[in-house]
Amino acid sequence: MAGSGTFSEIIDGDVYKYYVDGQWNKSSSGKSVPIINPTTRKTHYKVQACTQEEVNNVIDSAKKAQKLWAKTPLWKRAELLHKAAAILKENKAPIAECLVKEIAKPAKDAVTEVVRSGDLVSYCAEEGVRILGEGKFLVSDSFPGNDRTKYCLTSKIPLGVVLAIPPFNYPVNLAISKIAPALIAGNSIVLKPPTQGAVAALHMVHCFHLAGFPKGLIGCVTGKGSEIGDFLTMHPGVNCISFTGGDTGISISRKAGMIPLQMELGGKDACIVLEDADLDLAVANIVKGGFSYSGQRCTAVKVVLVMEQIASSLVKKVNEKVAKLTVGAPEDNCDITPVVTESSANFIEGLVKDAKEKKATFCQEYKREGNLIWPLLLDNVRPDMRIAWEEPFGPVLPVIRIKTVEEGIHHCNASNFGLQGCVFTSDINKAIMISDAMETGTVQINSAPARGPDHFPFQGLKDSGIGSQGITNSINIMTKVKTTVINLPAPSYTMG
Ligand code: G3H
Repeated sequence: MAGSGTFSEIIDGDVYKYYVDGQWNKSSSGKSVPIINPTTRKTHYKVQACTQEEVNNVIDSAKKAQKLWAKTPLWKRAELLHKAAAILKENKAPIAECLVKEIAKPAKDAVTEVVRSGDLVSYCAEEGVRILGEGKFLVSDSFPGNDRTKYCLTSKIPLGVVLAIPPFNYPVNLAISKIAPALIAGNSIVLKPPTQGAVAALHMVHCFHLAGFPKGLIGCVTGKGSEIGDFLTMHPGVNCISFTGGDTGISISRKAGMIPLQMELGGKDACIVLEDADLDLAVANIVKGGFSYSGQRCTAVKVVLVMEQIASSLVKKVNEKVAKLTVGAPEDNCDITPVVTESSANFIEGLVKDAKEKKATFCQEYKREGNLIWPLLLDNVRPDMRIAWEEPFGPVLPVIRIKTVEEGIHHCNASNFGLQGCVFTSDINKAIMISDAMETGTVQINSAPARGPDHFPFQGLKDSGIGSQGITNSINIMTKVKTTVINLPAPSYTMG
């Protein structure tokens, strides 16, 4: 059970504590923030509403702990990470339970998220030992006009305090993807989990606590973004921000100042289907890519651009599969579960109404109960409809019929997003040409967009992000290069 046994010290009464200087504390605010279960729409958990002073304390403590951590041998840092990974996996059940209750993630996917996170921590420890254990050696006479009088040694050093802000849809995994690279690289971490998903994140932090990381190295504050959000992201004690989420990332990037940023924001991931595609493969990927976790993934298929000649067959096959999707509670492992908040459901409904007014073809009847929205395929969508451009982050998928490949690429590139895209074709040359033409961070050939495996580079162009993720890239972003130059005597004084 969440909050009991191993996790009993992280809760007081019915309010979860925040984590500072190696301890679980109550906020002096005396206030809490409710977490509404998307399925029941009732308060399920409560977390502390931390104050700005408490944020200061967490950052100060992280700053102090980092100094010593940076000098801790790499193998020792890796050892602790491996320990945390094991504890995390041992506790997959109570953590997954939080994901089910807080964000309505289907039970099986919730367990997968925790296990995937444990694997990520282990891989990160191994990768860190390799790449941080290497430096470069340069000599000066390879640059014109220089003699061999300078030797340059490079190494990677940590940045300091990394602020990690994960989104609601992966509150454990997308926190871990920031925490593990930061720690192996010698940084400390201040985590601000999303409100929905905060309790799962607090359980995950406790696994790091149990692994025995030094006091203060990891801090976790909860509370309202409106009270501590800007305070955290503009805090002079923060040396790097790793953020995943929506538009808020754009305003964070404007306010953050001169520190490295790693940002994964939204996407309108297009799926281009050509006449020569393996239709069954495309259909399976469109349904999985468009509707898994009810479309609440930045990498979900968010618009299908299909060649006119095969559009009707594709739509028919997609509809057959959509009809088989189960709809209901996350506890029952349904494919489609309630979206995270009522306002998200209202936003999705707004897009559906707009498409209705503008005469899109509804392949299913629009149905909603509370936050639960039944899967919906909209055919014959046109560029004047909002759904053609905006990301619903819900189980509604638009299909645009195209006459030429160029039309599909044009639609994809006209978006302000540029996260991922995919193309289905049996012609590898065409696939590569299309990949080159699509203005997205990644193009998948014959598969739906996806972030993983977690060591692959993952990045968005345009409004979809800054910097690249993936384990190696994250370690690199969370370090800076330090050089030491050895100046030798001028050649005339050398021997021989
Ligand atoms: O929602 C954004 C995530 O980065 C998507 O990750 O492709 O593993 O579902 P995923």
